[in-house]
Amino acid sequence: MSVESLRGRDLLSMADLSVDELRGLLDLAAAMKTGKVNLRCNKVLGLLFQKASTRTRVSFTVAMYQLGGQVIDLNSSVTQVGRGEPTIDTARVLDRYLDVLAIRTFEQQELETFASYAKIPVINALTDLEHPCQVLADLQTVKEQFGQLKGLTLTYVGDGNNMANSLMLGCALVGMNVRIAAPSGYEPDGAIAQQATEIAAGSEVLVTQDPVEAVKGAHVIYTDVWASMGQEDLAEGRLPIFQPYQVNDPLLSHADEQAIVLHCLPAHRGEEITDEVMEGSQSLVWDQAENRLHAQKALLACLLGASAI
Ligand code: CP
Ligand code: NVA
Repeated sequence: MSVESLRGRDLLSMADLSVDELRGLLDLAAAMKTGKVNLRCNKVLGLLFQKASTRTRVSFTVAMYQLGGQVIDLNSSVTQVGRGEPTIDTARVLDRYLDVLAIRTFEQQELETFASYAKIPVINALTDLEHPCQVLADLQTVKEQFGQLKGLTLTYVGDGNNMANSLMLGCALVGMNVRIAAPSGYEPDGAIAQQATEIAAGSEVLVTQDPVEAVKGAHVIYTDVWASMGQEDLAEGRLPIFQPYQVNDPLLSHADEQAIVLHCLPAHRGEEITDEVMEGSQSLVWDQAENRLHAQKALLACLLGASAI
């Protein structure tokens, strides 16, 4: 099975997965969701989060419980991390206690340092650069809706942030076309856009400033907040810059008739997405949020080598 190669590995970037591993993970997540496959592993997951989280924290916790494992919440205010203990020391100590560690932090470099000093699998639970676990759930949701991924077009409208970066890589891996519509100065990471272009075997990777052109004929319309965690002070100044990038009914009318709308959540209704679109018939945001549980349960099972029951 293509996912066996994931045992003991880190997931720091979407690009850490091969095409076959990503396909295998999505298949396993779907099979675990329906109950066709049941896996168990009596292991311990640590959650080291330096930013707020509802979905990621709860879905990882429930996933681990459902696998028969346990979870320790290690947020920085209750550990020595908040008092400045060096990452390279914390990583080597946690490695001696835990079986797997999910980290939410600012710098991708800090996550990479953790991973290089801890032998256990380290998972990116969101950095300023990437959010690969979210994209696993996103692709699972798209596949549920359309029955396939290859050849579909996903358009992300808004800030070229961690979501935009991981979506470019994830879509390129599964053969989806990906278009990012972002204002000038807010484009996604250039090196990741280049990496996605190299991964994409024949599918499109486009970065543009034109939201209407980008949405035309697309099957998935995706958005996220205009100011990510850590950028809250900049939020108000960004409102006029991002207004043309709001996902609303007029913009959605340019998409494919069967198009779905996704948002990683939390959403700022009235900013990047209107109430009407969030609550509208094309919105699959609640299924998408649910799939965080199934996708991450499959991921944990693979990294930890869980056994069938
Ligand atoms: N989408 C997501 O990662 O949500 P949380 O910040 O609530 O974990
Ligand atoms: N781009 C957002 C995603 C939150 C899940 C942030 O980093 O805050």
